[in-house]
Amino acid sequence: MIERIHLATGNPGKAAELERLLGCPVLPIEGWEPPVEDGDSFLANARLKARAGAARCPGAWVVADDSGLEVDALDGAPGVHSARYGGDGLDDAGRTAALLAAVADAEDRHARFRCVLVAIGPDGEEVVADGTLEGTLARAPRGAGGFGYDPILIPAGDSRTCGELTRDEKNAISHRGTAARALRDTLGL
Ligand code: IMP
Repeated sequence: MIERIHLATGNPGKAAELERLLGCPVLPIEGWEPPVEDGDSFLANARLKARAGAARCPGAWVVADDSGLEVDALDGAPGVHSARYGGDGLDDAGRTAALLAAVADAEDRHARFRCVLVAIGPDGEEVVADGTLEGTLARAPRGAGGFGYDPILIPAGDSRTCGELTRDEKNAISHRGTAARALRDTLGL
């Protein structure tokens, strides 16, 4: 029986979100200093963070996540570089604009959010869960909800962008929600 999980983040908001999705207490790691995320896949980066977290919390369950947007017309970019796409000085709106400019002439608008969760247990055992939200890129940002690339990804089967969904609507279909539900089931939470 797992009573609590530590999340490899210093951000209490991220921990609260995962707590809602997992239905089990999730605590941020106090004084968390993230390792350099130089992995070439979401799994590699999530594993890197989970191992750093496990070193900080011996004997506990630790979870780390990595996520981002993959665009087919850009051969999967920005991928693991999603948070920094277009350069360091940009905010979410700037990154979104840079991405839309890069695909302005692309006929193939397919894209997806992906999330990988890595959990490490007290004995060093590793559990991996992932989730994908398939969609297409809008021509211009729409909606004030969410964060990051939400205003430009239209989930398959919907006409709204993720920025136009309520939090519950997005959680029900999102890459993070799917990964969290898979982890919850595997860990028996
Ligand atoms: P990280 O997993 O916190 O490193 O996030 C990577 C980046 O991917 C974020 O900064 C966002 O730009 C993007 N991203 C990940 N998940 C989402 C999402 O659910 N909506 C919008 N953007 C996302």
